[in-house]
Amino acid sequence: MDQTPTSRLLPGFTDAGQVSLSFIDDRGETVHAHGGQILHHDDAWWWIGEDRRGRVKVSCYRSEDLRTWDFRGHLLTLDSPTAPHPHRSSSDLRLDIPGRRAMIGQGCNIERPKLLYHAARRQWVMWMHWELPDNYHEARAAVAVCDRIDGDYTYLGSFRPLGHMSRDCTVFHDTDGSAWFISAARDNRDLHIYRLSPDYLDIERLERVLWPGGLREAPTVFRRGDRLYMLTSGCTGWRPNQSSWATARSMDGGWSERRDFGDQTTFASQPTWVLPLPDDRFLYIGDRWGGVGRGYPASETVFLPISFSEAGEPGITADLSPWILS
Ligand code: GAL
Repeated sequence: MDQTPTSRLLPGFTDAGQVSLSFIDDRGETVHAHGGQILHHDDAWWWIGEDRRGRVKVSCYRSEDLRTWDFRGHLLTLDSPTAPHPHRSSSDLRLDIPGRRAMIGQGCNIERPKLLYHAARRQWVMWMHWELPDNYHEARAAVAVCDRIDGDYTYLGSFRPLGHMSRDCTVFHDTDGSAWFISAARDNRDLHIYRLSPDYLDIERLERVLWPGGLREAPTVFRRGDRLYMLTSGCTGWRPNQSSWATARSMDGGWSERRDFGDQTTFASQPTWVLPLPDDRFLYIGDRWGGVGRGYPASETVFLPISFSEAGEPGITADLSPWILS
C-alpha cells in the first residue's frame, strides 16, 4: 500500500480534515456503488454496489489506498447471462421487464448487492434485494455468481426466502466459515437472520427473528474479537433516521436490545457496510441518498471511523479530523 501521507488518510478525508462524499474514478466518472460493500481481496480494496445508469445494475471498483478508485466493470446488468438456480425449481430469472417504467434506471429494481467468497468452490456469490421495476411489493432476494470478483456475474434468479418477504438485506461471513443472509421481512416489521447453505447459494434455515415489529432496515454486521455487532436503520424510505446497534456472541445467539448509533439522522446517512481495517479499526460506510428518480444518481457515500468505549459500545462522531491508516 502506498505510504505517502495523503494516501494514508481514509476515503473522503483530505489533509484539511474535510470529508468528500463522492468519488471520481480513473475514467473521470462519478463512482456509483450505492447500498454497497467494500472488501479486501488480492491485496486491494474492492467496492461494489448499485449503479442504476442505463441497463446497469451493479458495478465494481478497485483501489489500493481506499481513496482513488479504478472502474473494473459492470457485474450485473439487464443483459447478464442467466442460469437455473442449482437448488430451486422455480426461481424467477427476470432482470428486465420491457414496457414497465422503473422508479430509477431501467428494468427490475436491484438494491443492496453484497458479495460472499466461497473459497473451496472459488466462487463469488452475490445476494441482493429484487423488486419489479415500479413498486416494492414482491419483496424478494436474488442470487448471482461469478468465478472472479469483477467478472460478468450469472444471474440465478429471485425468490422469497422460505416464503418470507425480503427487502433491505446484507450478508455476513463469519470466522468459522458460516455465511448468513439478513433481511427485512413481514413488510419490514421483523429482521430475519438466515443461515445459508454450505455452498452459500441458498437459504438453509431461519435462525432468528429480531425485534418483531421493530421496523428495521439497512442491516450490516461485523465481528470485533468475540463479539458481533449489527447496525440497522429505522424505516423512513430515502430519508435518513436514527440508526441503532446491537451485539451478540454468535449470529444464531441471543442479540441484545438496540441502542442508538450516531445522531438522529446517523449524520445524514443510512448504514450499508462496516469495513474492518488493521489495528482494530472499523470504518462505517453509509449512503446519503439523493432520493428517488433523478435525485438518486446524486447519492453520496459517508465514511466515518467507529470508536468503541471500554465496554465495547460502538459509536461514530462527526469529527472529521484525519484518521490515518497505518
Ligand atoms: C430505504 C432502503 C433503500 C431503498 C429505499 C426506497 O429505506 O434502505 O435501500 O429501498 O428505502 O425507499
